[in-house]
Amino acid sequence: AAGNRDPRRFTDPDRFDPTRADNEHLGFGSGIHLCYGAPLARLEAHFALTALLPRLGTAELVEDPPPYRQNAMLRGPRHLTLRF
Ligand code: HEM
Repeated sequence: AAGNRDPRRFTDPDRFDPTRADNEHLGFGSGIHLCYGAPLARLEAHFALTALLPRLGTAELVEDPPPYRQNAMLRGPRHLTLRF
């Protein structure tokens, strides 16, 4: 049930580490329904993070953890407020 954060599969699973090696995650699904758009999404994420990260400087979360949506299908923060 831990999915991409399974501590038996990933070292330090709750840490965001885009350089993680051997990162066989389930973010794009798997098997015959594997995401068609994964190569495009990876390219977009690469360019977005490359442009954004150097500009973030000392940004930190105002609320940690941020408020999450009560939705098992679309899991994620409702909003992400940062302090600079
Ligand atoms: C970060 C961005 C994205 C994430 C996290 C994501 C995630 C996923 C996941 C988890 C599935 C599998 C759903 C299942 O097993 O039922 C999926 C399927 C799919 N995705 Fe994405 N996706 C992303 C971007 C895109 C983009 C940009 C496109 C199209 C340009 C796309 C097109 C599709 C299609 C057509 C399927 C259905 C594949 C099938 O059922 O055979 N996705 N996606």
